[in-house]
Amino acid sequence: MRQFNVVVLGAGGVGKSALTVRFVRDVFVENYDPTIEEQYHRPMMVDGERDSLEVLDTAGAEQFTSLNEVYIKSGRGFVLVFRQVPWQAILSDLSKYQFNSLTQEVSLKEVESLRKQIFRIKGSENVPIVVVGTKSDLVSEREVPTTTIESLASRWNLPFYETSAKRNWHINDVFEDLLRQMRVR
Ligand code: GTP
Ligand code: MG
Repeated sequence: MRQFNVVVLGAGGVGKSALTVRFVRDVFVENYDPTIEEQYHRPMMVDGERDSLEVLDTAGAEQFTSLNEVYIKSGRGFVLVFRQVPWQAILSDLSKYQFNSLTQEVSLKEVESLRKQIFRIKGSENVPIVVVGTKSDLVSEREVPTTTIESLASRWNLPFYETSAKRNWHINDVFEDLLRQMRVR
């Protein structure tokens, strides 16, 4: 059994913690509580082989993004998260959010910049990455069509998943894909 460090990155409030906690504990975190830093552990069986994932859930809030460089150095694989729906769909009390992205488009741009930062810090483009669009259960509120995102992900040449932590849609697929990538790179 090998151990792999996974880092979950993305703008504030996009759903990094809900995704991580759904994967590790199989529960949905309804309340928004901005993260500082949280480390989780989960063994995972993929293709008949059992490995251990150390998942680091990071802060999206802008005052902490200076830590991203440290996180990227420590990570073997990365989950880059953006939000597919506008703020209004998520919560009426916007004051609770630590904003660094007001619109979905901004959270998508954040993924683009994280991807570049990872390649620069790792000194290679051969890095295990999965791109995740969250909150697909709120699909009626969607701001950007899936096709736009799919074409972006394919231009970036990265696997893309639409997930819902609330409904437990495709959460395991994200980490399975990443584990397969980490085993061979
Ligand atoms: P920071 O820690 O501040 O960077 O935010 P985050 O990216 O960890 O966001 P978090 O996971 O805390 O989610 C923010 C809000 O969105 C919470 O109220 C969640 O319950 C909600 N949320 C997250 N994922 C989903 C989802 O798949 N569906 C729905 N309906 N809501 C979600
Ligand atoms: Mg969080």
